[in-house]
Amino acid sequence: MTNVTAEIKQSNGITMVAKKVSAKWFGDKNVLSFDAKGIKKVLSNVGQSCFIVRDPNGLIGVADRLGTDDPSKLTSMELLATVPAFLPSQLGDPEFRKTYGLQYNYMTGAMANGIGSAELVIAMSKAGMLSSFGAAGMVLSRVEKEINAIQKALGDKPFAVNLIHSPSEEALEREATDLFLEKGITIVEASAFMDLTPHIVRYRASGLSQDADGKVVIKNRVIAKISRSELAEKFMKPAPDPLLDQLVAEGKISKDEAECARKIPMADDITVEADSGGHTDRRSLVCLLPAIIALRDELQSKFQFPKEVRIGAAGGLGTPKSIFAAFMMGAAYVVTGSVNQACLESGSSDPVRKVLSEVDMVDVMMAPAADMFEMGVKLQVVKKGSLFGLRAQKLYDIYEAYNGMDEIPEKERGSLEKTLFKDTLDNIWKNCVDFFNERDPDQIKRAEDNPKRKMALVFRWYLGLSSAWANSGEKGRELDYQIWCGPAMGAFNKWTKGSSLENWENRKAAEVANHLLTGAAHLFRIQSLEMSGIRMHSDYKHWEIA
Ligand SMILES: Cc1cc2nc3c(=O)[nH]c(=O)nc-3n(C[C@H](O)[C@H](O)[C@H](O)COP(=O)(O)O)c2cc1C
Repeated sequence: MTNVTAEIKQSNGITMVAKKVSAKWFGDKNVLSFDAKGIKKVLSNVGQSCFIVRDPNGLIGVADRLGTDDPSKLTSMELLATVPAFLPSQLGDPEFRKTYGLQYNYMTGAMANGIGSAELVIAMSKAGMLSSFGAAGMVLSRVEKEINAIQKALGDKPFAVNLIHSPSEEALEREATDLFLEKGITIVEASAFMDLTPHIVRYRASGLSQDADGKVVIKNRVIAKISRSELAEKFMKPAPDPLLDQLVAEGKISKDEAECARKIPMADDITVEADSGGHTDRRSLVCLLPAIIALRDELQSKFQFPKEVRIGAAGGLGTPKSIFAAFMMGAAYVVTGSVNQACLESGSSDPVRKVLSEVDMVDVMMAPAADMFEMGVKLQVVKKGSLFGLRAQKLYDIYEAYNGMDEIPEKERGSLEKTLFKDTLDNIWKNCVDFFNERDPDQIKRAEDNPKRKMALVFRWYLGLSSAWANSGEKGRELDYQIWCGPAMGAFNKWTKGSSLENWENRKAAEVANHLLTGAAHLFRIQSLEMSGIRMHSDYKHWEIA
């Protein structure tokens, strides 16, 4: 069996003799596959180890077992490599699974207005994954109702709820925090934060205690979603003293809770979000993720927390390759968004699911956001099958060009009223007055003597309703659907072409996740082959042996 002998001269003058032993595979040759289809099948069966062999003619094949029950069939061949089983449940940091009681390091990110629905959360949790309920933009009574439904269906199984920062309506964030504490929500996905607020700090500190060894026991977990280092840093450090002191003085947390909070980071996990659907800075994951991991390492060595903050990846993940790449870059877990909106459980509508199933990677664009329209903030939406992006941009251009609706040229105004608003701008303003008088009358007061602000409220009427039309599948408004979506959707559509998942009616979120993770585990096995000097071409036919 010995076929190579090498002499190695050491610096001390002694010559060592090394022997490279080429191993053998023993078994029934009928179980060997030498064709691309068979090789792919064996390698894809990720729960079973397999063997790469070379026959006497130099042909490379694969077997999923060693040995045979029938000694008369015993064949031996050169064994090039053993590929161990590698399960999707082995991807990512095991601490993530342990902390949240999960089977897989996979999370579906929140999707506002209940697009990240109770149904989606329940399905994912039952499948051993984490899912965040899309509470943003919903009235609290509805959020409470949905939380009740989730808790009833899941019992002790884990799930998260989105705690979204609300700079313009602080009460929304405060009341959401009250509700989450009252309902015993122990995992929040904190997003859109520009700085730490008393509310997120109160949530984190509430219920902290110390065990007999003085170790801090965490009750409320925070998974913070960020796309900038400055913000990540705030969540990777303990809560700031002034905020903790203020909360103690107000009686919102105890002194003991504040003391515990000084010993742990604000977040257990940081999701690094790259080019995603909805609000996004469109950063590159390959640049941002390593930078945030390095920042974590630096802060961990400074603070020496008992458990380091884990770093997950989001944005653009819609294929096994991208998910595999995120794990290879060091992501502790992965988060998807766009692809879940396209699934049957999402709170969106069938017409939207159909549109989503037809988009390509380039069929997305940045369009003005309803919530921060005047500030010029944009979010990523679908541009194929909907004119929303272009129409919303037109509104923003008009907003920039004129000081009020009276200044809009007659022809332009007529066109807006005919195509976008399907009503006169004066009537839309009346709708705004009715709407805000119930919800936030101050908005109307501030707009009455300010024609530009008035114009913004009228334009935001369109921006706000366009996502409601999409979610309800409003007939006649298809061209105005505002569908938040990133390039991950197009990548997913390309990858699923020709499979059962090509049809939107077959897309179920947990199944999608299982396919993505199993595909990533398969790629991991191919990568492990490469590490043993065997490179297989993507056709599963051609090989290079180092
Ligand atoms: C329809 C939609 C709505 C979203 N709404 C929210 C939200 O309310 N809160 C939030 O934290 N993230 C929201 N996101 C972001 C997702 O949670 C997730 O981080 C992101 O979609 C991941 O990137 P991907 O779209 O490339 O998969 C939303 C994304 C989509 C597609």
